[in-house]
Amino acid sequence: MFLSWAFFILIIGLIQWYTFLCFKTISKNRYWLASYACFSLLIITNFIYQLYNYDRSEGFTPSISYSLGFFISLIVFQSIIVIGLFLEDISRISLAVYSVFKPKKEKNIFFPKRRKFLSQLSLALAFIPFSSLLYGMYRGKYNYKVLSYELEFPDLPSSFDGFKITHISDIHCGSFDNPEKVKYGVDLINKQKSDVIMFTGDIVNNVSKELNPWKKLFSSLKAEHGVYSVLGNHDYGDYMDWETDQEKINNLQNLKKIQREMGYKLLLNENDFIKKNGERLAILGVENWGAGGFKKVGDLNKAIEGISDSDFKILLTHDPSHWRNKVIPHNYFFPLTLSGHTHGMQFGIDIPGWIKWSPIKWRYPEFAGLYKKAKQYLYVNRGFGYLAYPGRVGMWPEITVLTLKKSKIEV
Ligand SMILES: [Fe+2]
Repeated sequence: MFLSWAFFILIIGLIQWYTFLCFKTISKNRYWLASYACFSLLIITNFIYQLYNYDRSEGFTPSISYSLGFFISLIVFQSIIVIGLFLEDISRISLAVYSVFKPKKEKNIFFPKRRKFLSQLSLALAFIPFSSLLYGMYRGKYNYKVLSYELEFPDLPSSFDGFKITHISDIHCGSFDNPEKVKYGVDLINKQKSDVIMFTGDIVNNVSKELNPWKKLFSSLKAEHGVYSVLGNHDYGDYMDWETDQEKINNLQNLKKIQREMGYKLLLNENDFIKKNGERLAILGVENWGAGGFKKVGDLNKAIEGISDSDFKILLTHDPSHWRNKVIPHNYFFPLTLSGHTHGMQFGIDIPGWIKWSPIKWRYPEFAGLYKKAKQYLYVNRGFGYLAYPGRVGMWPEITVLTLKKSKIEV
């Protein structure tokens, strides 16, 4: 523990020294240098203080989230400067070495000075991600986007041709800090006037009481066929310390109770049917199943009990790795699976039809949007809320509208 703290402080210290040199190259004015040093020091000491006092029985509070957000913004800003200066230093050192070995070296040992222009350029470039990360914290996290898709299925029951689903995920209500903006997002979901709303888990960060101030607002989600929901990895209270095991069990029971009081049809390895003109859609919901170290209590075999493979199935599962690992290889055919979990890392470049990139793609191949494999669709919602970094850049909070269409030919 001591070693990892020492290593962390050493790396942070080196970054500070290097970026300070950049500021010094631009101007030696002591107010300029002192302002920068104080600004950095304030962000770093606040973050270390919050980290050191992190209480696992409290979970991720807004103060630790914001200290993390400012810290990430600062380190990204400084890292860009470090890269710029480092590239310049390689050329400076190469020139110095060359001057030592060239003829008449005793007269011409030459170590070039840092160029002010390159320091200014590094600073200007670094300001782009820095300001984006601050914008993400101030505005981006409530910049709700409605993304609409039409999906065609040859085996869709005719009565459900044109059936509209609004899919949301990862509310994380313990993170919200602006009720007005959240209400705007909830109203936007209702404005879609879908036939059904489907929520794919992580309603809280850690503890069921986070729902109390938001229960009324999220109860106002309305659709003709109601709101279906499942649990996500954050809903089980696994990321905080509990005084007793019973306290943790009670918390989960309370979370389920609140969701049912809100009118949500919580599916825990079970299913339900939406019926229309004598035809039906099977809605299946599993508990969390995530690849790697994540909780694996989702049970697809239990969830399919009482339904036949000829039923048109819509599966709700929080973690998209479940689709790749269990859903696709399953002997039942699942035309449409809805997931969330990744948040698109709350950071990336996402221009529909052009580019979709986030560092999370290296962890989750299906990290945002629509995927298709073996004629089965997966939709990964980027999330309604946010967690840890209290912002979003590029990967905006999402409300998905999926319209099911019956296709005449096999697609
Ligand atoms: Fe989440």
